[in-house]
Amino acid sequence: MNLLEKLDAAAAARKALLPDGVGAFGIPIEEVYSATEARIGDRRVLLLGTNNYLGLTFAPECIRAAHEAIDNEGTGTTGSRMANGSYSGHRALEREFADFYQCNSSIVFTTGYQANLGTITGLVGPGDTVLIDGDSHASIYDGCILSGADIIRFKHNDMIDMEKRLHRLGSRVETTLIIAEGIYSMLGDQAPLAEIVKLKNTYGGTLLLDEAHSLGVLGETGQGLVEKTGLLKDVDFITGTFSKSLCSIGGFCVSNHPQLNQLRYVSHPYIFTASPSPATIASTRAALELLRKGNHLRTQLWHNCIQLYTRLKDAGYVLGPDPGPVIAAIVDTPQQALLLWQKLLENNIYVNLILPPAAPEGKSLVRCSVNAAHTYEQIQYVGDVFSRLRSLT
Ligand SMILES: Cc1ncc(COP(=O)(O)O)c(C=O)c1O
Repeated sequence: MNLLEKLDAAAAARKALLPDGVGAFGIPIEEVYSATEARIGDRRVLLLGTNNYLGLTFAPECIRAAHEAIDNEGTGTTGSRMANGSYSGHRALEREFADFYQCNSSIVFTTGYQANLGTITGLVGPGDTVLIDGDSHASIYDGCILSGADIIRFKHNDMIDMEKRLHRLGSRVETTLIIAEGIYSMLGDQAPLAEIVKLKNTYGGTLLLDEAHSLGVLGETGQGLVEKTGLLKDVDFITGTFSKSLCSIGGFCVSNHPQLNQLRYVSHPYIFTASPSPATIASTRAALELLRKGNHLRTQLWHNCIQLYTRLKDAGYVLGPDPGPVIAAIVDTPQQALLLWQKLLENNIYVNLILPPAAPEGKSLVRCSVNAAHTYEQIQYVGDVFSRLRSLT
């Protein structure tokens, strides 16, 4: 089979799963009305599959900042951070992230994906080891593969398995990077950070935590799982993205280790790509400011999360273990998940459909993402429709 035939075979397999006319992946959103509503085809739908956790996509402060940046600095930087792409805004945002995490320094990357790629490849290489959770995001896997380090996986959130593997590493632990996530993107559950830190302190190693889904969501000021657990100082490197609670695009790494800055000279995903546009940086700075002041947003978010999680649980759905903004109904077969996804869309609710191999343990997921801008009535409506559709799964 040649290269093009291999793609044909993959397309045929996808078609067999999704009947003609069902574009469950990459569905075109024709118009966006607000943080919670949009038009798909001729339907006005409720958006319940975005990562807009604080509901800030239309925040006037962010829109104003982006407009001003375009007017003053143009549409793009046309160069890498290493060359002509480090404007004062990029550097200011780095200071603001470092300040937010009370850390010495931070680095801004062009996407959250590149923040993981850039941090991991900057820290480890051939001969080193990465010890990662089996359910890690693709950006973590890809960073590990690109680094050339030996990849060892422990079972998702399984501390007995993690300890076994740490123990086996022996003296290699000195050059081992341990990686976990604040909130896992598939089931919405949290890493057992206290136990991970305890194992790290016992055996050694360097710890990186990806707070992509937990920034703005967990902790008193929204720092993430490090704040919720009081373990900020025990984590060596924190990565995250601007594309979820901060409603733009880009990524960051913060650390107290002065060596973080060395990544700027060795990390290809930092060096060989254009820097985020001035508008992106300006709206991210405005969003970070709102996030820092945004206790009321977090309170509203959690109110909505608990409300929907409880409704779905009471309706008999099998869900991930922790309530939170990512609420995934776990379904046995792709066909059941597809049918539920289609019926939700027919009822004007857009959620994410996740099929194997993207979903853990061969299951399929119908994943909802709750945000602070959803109203009580919207959440009630979603709960009612899910309850009516329960017999489909
Ligand atoms: C855990 C995790 N890390 C990193 C990323 C990459 O972020 P971005 O999409 O902003 O590049 C994602 C995106 O979904 C994610 O879920």
